Amino acid sequence: MITSKSLLLMLTALMIFSNEVIAEAERAAPEASAEIGEQDKYASIRENLKTCFTCHGDNGQSKLGTFPILAGQEFYYMYVQLKDMKTGLRESQVMGPIVANIEKADLKLLAMFFSEQKWPETSYEINAKQSARGQRVIDEGGCTACHLATLKGNSRIPRLANQHPEYLKNTMHDFRNEVRNNAPAMASLLKTYTDEDIDAIANYLGSFKE
Ligand code: HEC
Ligand code: HEC
Repeated sequence: MITSKSLLLMLTALMIFSNEVIAEAERAAPEASAEIGEQDKYASIRENLKTCFTCHGDNGQSKLGTFPILAGQEFYYMYVQLKDMKTGLRESQVMGPIVANIEKADLKLLAMFFSEQKWPETSYEINAKQSARGQRVIDEGGCTACHLATLKGNSRIPRLANQHPEYLKNTMHDFRNEVRNNAPAMASLLKTYTDEDIDAIANYLGSFKE
């Protein structure tokens, strides 16, 4: 016969047991719980990120010269670029259609995600002649006044140090040719340089050592 006292004991035992089961399940699946809503601030962009990684490399640590490194680039700078590529102020045949359907709030999250990743090691070499020319042009152009002596940028100003030379060269030509119209000051400055200067700058920046 079940007394009320033994029933109470059974119920208590059941409660303790089920709490343990729940605790166990939570320990076993930390990722599953991180995916739920507010614990993962990047939940809304996880699918987009997979697309980004196909060109910009895992976590934005691009290994290919035509795709800029995003990992560790300045947050605010990247957010501005994504918005400008959406409006076409910075014309990009590749990026334009990609950002066209992404909301501003998610563009901000994408920029934030990439800014929190680690800048990858790159190992570009430069010859003495180009290095001297690059250094001279950069000194005379006062580039470090904005991009800082470390050339690592700040906020609205991008990091240039150790970016892929091929990408830097392409984008400097885009400034000059007014394909990239979101920084008129940069464009008019770059118009004063020759193609050889731009090659030297790109290689100097790519192989930059502090
Ligand atoms: C099909 C390849 C491809 C995919 C996919 C792609 N990108 Fe790009 N991305 C590029 C190329 C190429 C450039 C350089 C474009 C230019 O300068 O016109 C670029 C440039 C950028 C820049 C500017 C970087 C800088 O230093 O100014 C940002 C930011 C960026 N992409 C973010 C993203 C994000 C976020 C995604 C995913 C939603 C993404 N990209 C997906 C190819 C791609
Ligand atoms: C007055 C401040 C200023 C000076 C001086 C300056 N820059 Fe910039 N630079 C910027 C800003 C701001 C941007 C970002 C523009 C944008 O939003 O598109 C930029 C962007 C760039 C980019 C594009 C980087 C990327 O990831 O796409 C390159 C390359 C660059 N600058 C090179 C140079 C060089 C080389 C010099 C010197 C000859 C120089 N800059 C001088 C402010 C400056």
